[in-house]
Amino acid sequence: MLLDLLRALATPAPAAQRRLGYRRDSIWLESRARRCRGAWAPHCEASRAVIGAAIARCGHRGTAVVLGSGPLADVPLAALATGFRRVVLVDAVHPLAVRRAVRAIPQVELLTADLSGAMDLLTGAAPDLDPRLPPVCTEAETGLVISANLLSQLPIRPVARLERTRRPLGPWTRDDGDAFGARLVAGHLAALAGLSAQVCLLTDLDETEEDRQGRVHARHDLLYGQRLGPPERSWTWELAPFGEVARDRRLLHRVVGFSQWRP
Ligand SMILES: C[S@@+](CC[C@H](N)C(=O)[O-])C[C@H]1O[C@@H](n2cnc3c(N)ncnc32)[C@H](O)[C@@H]1O
Repeated sequence: MLLDLLRALATPAPAAQRRLGYRRDSIWLESRARRCRGAWAPHCEASRAVIGAAIARCGHRGTAVVLGSGPLADVPLAALATGFRRVVLVDAVHPLAVRRAVRAIPQVELLTADLSGAMDLLTGAAPDLDPRLPPVCTEAETGLVISANLLSQLPIRPVARLERTRRPLGPWTRDDGDAFGARLVAGHLAALAGLSAQVCLLTDLDETEEDRQGRVHARHDLLYGQRLGPPERSWTWELAPFGEVARDRRLLHRVVGFSQWRP
């Protein structure tokens, strides 16, 4: 706990990310990834395999962009750095371990950016959502854009904040949580769909809460009703094994992967 706090304080992040809780989330994600390393291994391996297939089929080896690179648990950085002249890792917060690891790889760059288009709205700096991708995604040199287990994360903080707020956020009120979440998910998919680079998409779809007898107690659609089409690969990610969030409950996520996603 104290270590997490110290790590949070030492992790560079813009004011909006700190204020809205993204830096805390980044530290928490790293800690959970460490605690659940064994349970997460099949998911990380499957994600890396989809990205490996995307690299293999990509004919344009200029720049590769990873959206939602985070702690790089499910991203094969070495394969990207070998396969492309430039690799740009994009996240709201880059963990210290990743900052250290990429120092030794000259063609890898870190870009800190909001990929939801919601942070400016949440901080009062913009009148509405503005979902868009960083300009590097549309550069002529960019051959591959990977959305790496990011999509379901985009609505989490913004929807929670909207549902807590007393004042409307631009045109959105606290009763609009589901529509707001759907707009964030649809905004990212529309931005990916507009790219001319090859798009590799990895995302979880839903969360199931299960007990030790396999009985389902809750199920949540993480994409707010947005559909992606038949996936190339799908698997189950044991996000929280028994004991992680409750002694007799575990959380399972259904994940899909497309090495070349088209809407
Ligand atoms: C489940 S993690 C992705 C895991 C990562 N691909 C890996 O290899 O470990 C989701 C990532 O999305 C990032 N994220 C969430 N909301 C974001 C936003 N609005 N803009 C940019 N990144 C965001 C988080 O910081 C986190 O690193």
